[in-house]
Amino acid sequence: MPQPQQSNGTGGPRSQGAWESPCFTGVQCLRKRPLKAPTSYRLGVLGSGRGSNFVALAEACTAGRVPAEIAIVLSDVEDAGILSHARELGIRAEYLAPGRFRTKLDEEAERLYAERLIESRVDLIVLAGFMRILKGGFLRAFASRVINIHPSLLPSFPGLEAWKQALEHGVKVTGCTVHFVDDGIDSGPVIGQSAVPVRDGDTASTLHARIQEAERRLYPAVVAALARGEVRVEGRRAIGFSHEQ
Ligand code: GRF
Repeated sequence: MPQPQQSNGTGGPRSQGAWESPCFTGVQCLRKRPLKAPTSYRLGVLGSGRGSNFVALAEACTAGRVPAEIAIVLSDVEDAGILSHARELGIRAEYLAPGRFRTKLDEEAERLYAERLIESRVDLIVLAGFMRILKGGFLRAFASRVINIHPSLLPSFPGLEAWKQALEHGVKVTGCTVHFVDDGIDSGPVIGQSAVPVRDGDTASTLHARIQEAERRLYPAVVAALARGEVRVEGRRAIGFSHEQ
């Protein structure tokens, strides 16, 4: 089964005991799965917004450019565009309440998200504009199986409105980055990057639009490489993806 290879041997959603809570029934469910190779690589997509990266990924899966299927879409925003796009495409889509915090999922919500993803037998969790920080319990349960796309060339301009940060800083080239998610802010190993020029006449919105075009090419290409089992992690380096492929 293709998975990102880990030099340190940490497990993914299938690792036992990743969640200590006895009420985390999804772990039971995974333990009962037969150990045969799956017929397809399954994606769980999390988003809070309009879902343009999700749509690009779904189209690439349908067209066979990404050897994967989107098993489920989850959102913390009840009327998020990503949920309606998913439903139009006949993909299971659910709003799950984020809980009591403004910027992260609370513990109960994390458990609920993780349960849904495990029930859906996902191999990879794709954050596509998900505006909540994911913390310890969730990331331990899905170690090296969660990826995100960020609108800058990391490590430059982590955090919010990265395209505005780039414009205000005056850089001539910015772009987008797909990286594994760790418990920092946009700090996990970089899998792939795409450069985007900053033009003299750019405004925040023209630059953002150009970066988003690049995102819609980069994200499916990275997911395809992961689905083919081509990416491995060695310390801080994720090796195996080249944007030319
Ligand atoms: C993307 O532009 C990405 O950079 C950021 O969130 C945005 C989501 O946009 N992580 P969309 O919902 O995919 O259109």
